[in-house]
Amino acid sequence: MQVKVLPSSRWKGTEQTLIVFMPEGVPAPMGWKGGEASLKRLMLAARHEGFTGKAQQVVLVHPEDEDPARRVLLTGLGSPQAAGSEAYRRGSGMASKAAAAANLKGVSILFPERGEAAKVRNCAQAIVEGAVLASYRFGNYKTVSDGTPGPLEHVVLLHPDDAGTKEITAGANLGDVAAHAAAMARDLVNEPASSLTPQKLAERASRLGGRVRAKVFDLKTLERMGMGGVSGVGRGSVNPPVFIWLKYQGSKPKTRIALVGKGVTFDAGGLSIKKAEAMETMKCDMAGAATVMAVMRAAEMLKLPLQIDGYIPAVENLPSGSAIKPGDVLKLASGKTVEVLNTDAEGRLILADALAHAVKEKPDHVIDVATLTGGAVTALGTGVTAILGTDQALVSALIAAGEAAGEPMWQLPLVKDYEEMLKSRVADLRNTASRREASTIVGGLFLKEAVGSASWAHLDIAGTAWTDREGAYTQPGATGCPVRALLGYLIKIAG
Ligand code: BES
Ligand code: MN
Ligand code: ZN
Repeated sequence: MQVKVLPSSRWKGTEQTLIVFMPEGVPAPMGWKGGEASLKRLMLAARHEGFTGKAQQVVLVHPEDEDPARRVLLTGLGSPQAAGSEAYRRGSGMASKAAAAANLKGVSILFPERGEAAKVRNCAQAIVEGAVLASYRFGNYKTVSDGTPGPLEHVVLLHPDDAGTKEITAGANLGDVAAHAAAMARDLVNEPASSLTPQKLAERASRLGGRVRAKVFDLKTLERMGMGGVSGVGRGSVNPPVFIWLKYQGSKPKTRIALVGKGVTFDAGGLSIKKAEAMETMKCDMAGAATVMAVMRAAEMLKLPLQIDGYIPAVENLPSGSAIKPGDVLKLASGKTVEVLNTDAEGRLILADALAHAVKEKPDHVIDVATLTGGAVTALGTGVTAILGTDQALVSALIAAGEAAGEPMWQLPLVKDYEEMLKSRVADLRNTASRREASTIVGGLFLKEAVGSASWAHLDIAGTAWTDREGAYTQPGATGCPVRALLGYLIKIAG
């Protein structure tokens, strides 16, 4: 998708369809500059279509020829008080989908906000994110078109005042980078597991480009590095595991961040095998890895003054004659031993190795992203990411970034008393509690063993990385969550 910013005075009316935003209970669309008569006609047409400005309501109206645009897509924002970034993101997403459904390839969008720089910038970012994300398609494997029209290919952001170009352009660029990063994560997650093996994931990581460097450690090397979790989980597959270390070095970095992403390219559960339905979507179990790759790519494109290290343990978790068995004991990179009672709790085993490596480099903050527990889906559904951590300031900053990105997070406690549940009779730890309760917290507590006293936050995206529903700017499949939240956090700390 191509995004352009243009002052209205230079608009040649090349895109004859104009998206305009309108909250409930206001007399005119935001930023509308047409004359009295044209506004009257527009509002009359809107009323005929039952348009009230309700959130995500979209109607296409045809004012008369002398009006600024031949067709207007009126887009509701809901109550004016609630019309923040997410209302624009969703409105823009719905309008872009409606435009595509009407067989359009391009639209103009009347820029709605004016005044305060940050407000204008955030609005431009949200509108572009909505349009780009709504226009995402994963169509790699279709050989026959199913007749649905293709997505929008270009949008022009028109601003009526000719002022504010700088802020709108800056916001639009940010939105463009963030949404395309999220789309990149979606592509990786949507790719079938058999064509995105650990080795293939490593190749993709090596080709991120720009100033992102990748080091890939093969099975022999990662065994030598003491990563018994990664090599243990990987043993069940003919496709060997790899450990990927990404590095982005911005100029004069203020802060050093470690990002750790779960890269289980397919999770069958191992010998503790999953039911067929639970396995259907398990190509999504590398969404944490995809997030780390996409965020680092975007941070590089934005030249953020940070040092970011990305750590991705990549494995297939399959049952076979060579797979680890319940009761086996593995030695992790931290030096601790684990009794593996359920081979389906594999994420924590590989992440513990990666986290141990990450903290050795003494970063300022460590953030891991993982589709870790079904409990996160049960507790918070597909709309809210579970977050846990040892550093409340870090957790709060991530929650704030999630809020701004429309990727909400909710904190769960690392309950000290529950550590009891991870005690093993034969090893230092066991990988699952004997009961199913509080599995998201227990998973977090297991990871905490590997990070020690570091400033750390854990994002459990088991619910949010994947959706089976159509949203205002999502399609069934990978969501790209929480790429934009993390990027927003990094932009914030880069100052
Ligand atoms: N990859 C799964 C978690 C998951 C579930 C991700 C649903 C996305 C959607 C993870 O490896 C897993 O199997 N977790 C187990 C842990 C349990 C055995 C302690 C779970 O949550 O059931
Ligand atoms: Mn599992
Ligand atoms: Zn898993």
